[in-house]
Amino acid sequence: MLRDFNGLLIAILDRSLTDEIASYHGDTVLASVEELDSLDGFIQTINSGVVDLILFTETDQIRCLLDGAAAGDFTAQFRDALRQIVIGVMDASCADFLRTQHLTPDFESDQPDRSRFTASIARLAHALVTKKRTAVDAGLETAYWQRIDMKWPHAFDQHNINTESMFLRACRGETTDYTPIWLNRQAGRYQRAYMNLKGEMDFLDMCKIPELTAEITLMAAERLDVDAAIIFADILPILQPLGFHLEYVKGTGPVIHNPIRSGEAVDQLEEVSIDSQQYVYEAIRMVRPALPPTIPLIGFSGAPFTLAAYAIEGGGSKHFQHVKTFMYNDPGAWHAFMEKLARAVTGYLNAQIEAGVQALQLFDSWVGCLSPDDYREFVLPHTGYIFAHLNPRVPTIHFGTGTGALLELMREAGGDVIGLDWRVDLAEAWHRLEYDVAVQGNLDPIILYSSTKNIRKHAEAILHKANGRPGHIFNLGHGILPGTPEDHVIALIDAVHELSTNKQFNH
Ligand code: CP3
Repeated sequence: MLRDFNGLLIAILDRSLTDEIASYHGDTVLASVEELDSLDGFIQTINSGVVDLILFTETDQIRCLLDGAAAGDFTAQFRDALRQIVIGVMDASCADFLRTQHLTPDFESDQPDRSRFTASIARLAHALVTKKRTAVDAGLETAYWQRIDMKWPHAFDQHNINTESMFLRACRGETTDYTPIWLNRQAGRYQRAYMNLKGEMDFLDMCKIPELTAEITLMAAERLDVDAAIIFADILPILQPLGFHLEYVKGTGPVIHNPIRSGEAVDQLEEVSIDSQQYVYEAIRMVRPALPPTIPLIGFSGAPFTLAAYAIEGGGSKHFQHVKTFMYNDPGAWHAFMEKLARAVTGYLNAQIEAGVQALQLFDSWVGCLSPDDYREFVLPHTGYIFAHLNPRVPTIHFGTGTGALLELMREAGGDVIGLDWRVDLAEAWHRLEYDVAVQGNLDPIILYSSTKNIRKHAEAILHKANGRPGHIFNLGHGILPGTPEDHVIALIDAVHELSTNKQFNH
């Protein structure tokens, strides 16, 4: 979305890029070498401090400017001026060259492609400039900086986080200027930037490096321009301190090497110390001050049933045969296991609130495999326990898939927002919930593989279903899948912002 993009001064040496940027936003003030007559004039303009962004499409442009500055004896002044403004580069060679010059790009395009580059700059310029100015004002040295080095003023103080953001207002069922959107699995393998940060690293090892998970969290929120960030972590590592051997196997997904199949095994499980998840709290403490105060941070956990499903099946499952058989054959051991998990999850989520999240999502991804009667007997007491014991300071989202038959029961268990998948009609589901809670959803993630025209059409249909009623958070019905085109994800976010801002959907 092009938000308040007026009046930014963008410096460009590449004439064809100037035209392209201008086509995105006619009001943007552009300065190209031709307009300024000479390279010297261009350098002087940057030195004078009026420029907000500078864009490079080739290393020669950088070299030429630095040489020009050196010839005019401006080297130090010019480098200093460059450190104060947003530097956008179209490819990795520009980024690498800048680094050899002790300068750091603030934005690097996903692809060395002009239209991708200009489109990204057009939608993100305002946010990038605000962030850069905040950093410069705070005296932050931005050469070599990472996103986690950024500190917005006073963001540690809960009172200074904007509680009126569109996402938090929607969680509370209040009116919003537009429909807020964030996406389950918004950081992940579909992103080139994620794959670059991940490198050859094992996913589980990665989850335990707060500097890395914090950077990934911030990278996704910044690139997508979504209305909330979600801490990058996974639901399964909490099983490790209980005594489970967890591994993420390439091509297979998560595997538990010692699944439990008996009541005795439950008795032998350790009690989880929530301190074992310090790396998650540490990442939250890094992300929060680096995230704009207007963007809430979501913490999360797996719900007891979904965690038990992995712990008993030993991995992903189609029919959930082992977990259900366990539940039916030994209800006593089942409840003991669920209680243990519910206590761990509650402690874990409350610790995330203490560390600095503004909202929580409980993922009961696989609970949709149960009948309503079984949900009531085997699950509801435990999810109910969690919601009843969370610090009420932050709103909660209760998410599951395939839960069309369970929505009323999920609401009974708790959550300010109920997550809906695409198998239910949003209007009908919300009506069934008596508009008593906010709802989140519910685009089929597979739609993101189709054309942007089709994506927009389906986004519009969902907004129609929500009908402008306060308390709708746009999301997918499940997570973004690997291989999803990044520009389709961005097209969805922009379409939701644009269509809902135009208020065609009045309650
Ligand atoms: O949403 C976000 O951006 C935060 C990150 C996040 C991940 N997992 C990262 C991840 C979140 C919120 C989760 C939750 C999660 N993890 C759930 C609940 C949501 C859902 O999708 O139902 C579940 C069931 C898991 C368990 C899990 N972790 C699975 C099934 C897999 C394998 C997925 C696959 O397609 O192979 C993981 C690994 C995982 N978690 C990855 C990511 C980015 C991929 C790991 C990699 O980079 O190789």
